[in-house]
Amino acid sequence: MSYEEIILDHWRHPRNKGRLPHPDAAAVEANPLCGDVVRIELGIKDQTIQDIRFEGEGCAISLASASVLTELVQGKPVAEAAGITDEALLSALGGVVRTRLSCALLPLRALHKALGQHRSPDDGGPPPGEPPSAGRCTSSG
Ligand code: FES
Repeated sequence: MSYEEIILDHWRHPRNKGRLPHPDAAAVEANPLCGDVVRIELGIKDQTIQDIRFEGEGCAISLASASVLTELVQGKPVAEAAGITDEALLSALGGVVRTRLSCALLPLRALHKALGQHRSPDDGGPPPGEPPSAGRCTSSG
């Protein structure tokens, strides 16, 4: 599929759009150029991303990119998801014109922010299976 087809498909039929009832990590990132926002929520178990959802107020590219990103991340170990690069996401999108890079990469910034706020049990977080508490993960929105 071409870049245009991928964007159109994911914009019209977004994957994993919505909210999780009890996310283990979440973050909102805003594009400083336009003020659009994307929120990413993660359900993490055994250091694997079991569930991911996104919501946003943004252009077609940013929301389609969020949808593509959720498919890239679902089921991946946290460490692998944290290692997803700009290039990997842009490649999954079929390439993005230079002027729209900040739109396309907005969801990835939100993902990295959410993962940065997630604390594993090894880092002193609560044991697996324990319900999320207010202090476990933070969200900026
Ligand atoms: Fe705002 Fe694309 S124009 S994220």
